[in-house]
Amino acid sequence: MTTTHLGAFPAGFLFGGATAANQIEGAAEEGGKGLSTSDFARFVPPAADGSIADFTFDATSEQVEEALAGRAPEGTMYPKRHGIDFYHRYREDIALFAEMGFGLFRMSISWARIFPTGFETEPNEEGLAFYDAVFDELLAHGIQPLVTLSHYEMPIEISRRLDGWLSRETIALFERFARTVFERYASKVKLWITFNEMNMNLTSIYTGAGVFPDRVQGRELQAAYQATHHQFVAAARVVALGHELMPDAQIGCMICRLETYAATSKPADVLRATHEDNLNLFYPDVQVRGEYPTYMTRYLREKGIEIAMAPEDAEILRAGTADFISISYYMTYLAEDRPDADALSGSLVSKLKNPYLELSAWGWPVDPVGLRIALLKLWGRYGKPLYVVENGLGARDRVEENGRIHDDYRIDYLRAHLLQVREAIEDGVDVRGYTWWGPIDLVSCSTSQMTKRYGFIHVDQDDYGNGTLARTKKDSFDWYAHVIASRGTSLIDVD
Ligand code: BG6
Repeated sequence: MTTTHLGAFPAGFLFGGATAANQIEGAAEEGGKGLSTSDFARFVPPAADGSIADFTFDATSEQVEEALAGRAPEGTMYPKRHGIDFYHRYREDIALFAEMGFGLFRMSISWARIFPTGFETEPNEEGLAFYDAVFDELLAHGIQPLVTLSHYEMPIEISRRLDGWLSRETIALFERFARTVFERYASKVKLWITFNEMNMNLTSIYTGAGVFPDRVQGRELQAAYQATHHQFVAAARVVALGHELMPDAQIGCMICRLETYAATSKPADVLRATHEDNLNLFYPDVQVRGEYPTYMTRYLREKGIEIAMAPEDAEILRAGTADFISISYYMTYLAEDRPDADALSGSLVSKLKNPYLELSAWGWPVDPVGLRIALLKLWGRYGKPLYVVENGLGARDRVEENGRIHDDYRIDYLRAHLLQVREAIEDGVDVRGYTWWGPIDLVSCSTSQMTKRYGFIHVDQDDYGNGTLARTKKDSFDWYAHVIASRGTSLIDVD
């Protein structure tokens, strides 16, 4: 597939980077912030064979109670509590983003920094002032903020008292939070995302919806879809509210796009892949079209899932549809019609391996062309503007004696994916921006590791929280800066 005919990215296309509060800020208990669900995600050191435990981002109700009572097992580590200290170093970090030429910076607001337990009626002014300062700094450098309201965290008190998003009462608490930040930042933030990757509720209901897994044992699927329904309603209400309070703002939805291929051309495999793909498209189907799709009605019925809905929900969903679709894109999936197909689906990484794709050091298949396929499909299905708000490579970097980091693998990954975005634009897809996940090394969502590094900027901190936190540029830093300065023409011409 040739790309040499492609010219610059369109004027107005925004290049940048993406983060989430819980993976960068730290200062978990500073500035009046309350503890969040993510503050209980543990780092569990690798086993002797180097393998890393799954699902350490989950916490049970017992683990949380023990931690709050100061009785967590000795040595328990919660890296998201210290992050990479963005809370104190945001000026330095934003200056580096500006040096790369970012036009867009995706970040999230920590709900517990604004409403420490989630139940207060008045916001925490110190928390609000912090984000004011961050937005001012970004804008002073000509960088537009793209703000996610809910990125894998909520005040832990909402989980303890209400079971997070399982409760309908959480919708009103979230609306209060959204109204507060919309009113405060309306003049500074014009691009918003309601929820990060709602489809995560199926993988980790704790991370996605603040629900303790032990409290929904045996009815996980029912709980995940019920919590998701409450998030749909909350998202729609918040979109409608945002439009009212900020007529010039755009408010989008976001999914982790799991582009699914059939393992073979056997029609039954293709049908299976279509079903699995639909389970992922379900989220934008509801948030963009404003109603549950028919295939989902059948799926839920056959799984014995009954979602409690209020009579007004249908109208709420219709009245608050998203202005744009944003995606995270890391890999593609395979589906096959076989007796154990249900057990194979729904995991973070496809259990069926695509022989045509190489794997990252963390076993994630690398598939740049899949990104173009995803963009074409979403554009064809919805005709809404698209943003790629996460794409990136978690890799183990080596610091040379002279302090340099030669991360050619990251450059190759970025180049290949950006070229596919450019191809999609050439196909007529309205892609408005691209924010690389983790432009600065940050704490991994799934494993709480630091050594799973994504950044163009290295942060001197190991998995155990040791290090000076000094920031240094990797080779990819200058490379991406050059891509942005040339509006992408250097992707083809220059190394
Ligand atoms: C996305 C999440 O799914 O994947 C991010 O929105 C996350 O929060 C990213 O960091 C990469 O995953 P991980 O586990 O490598 O950090």
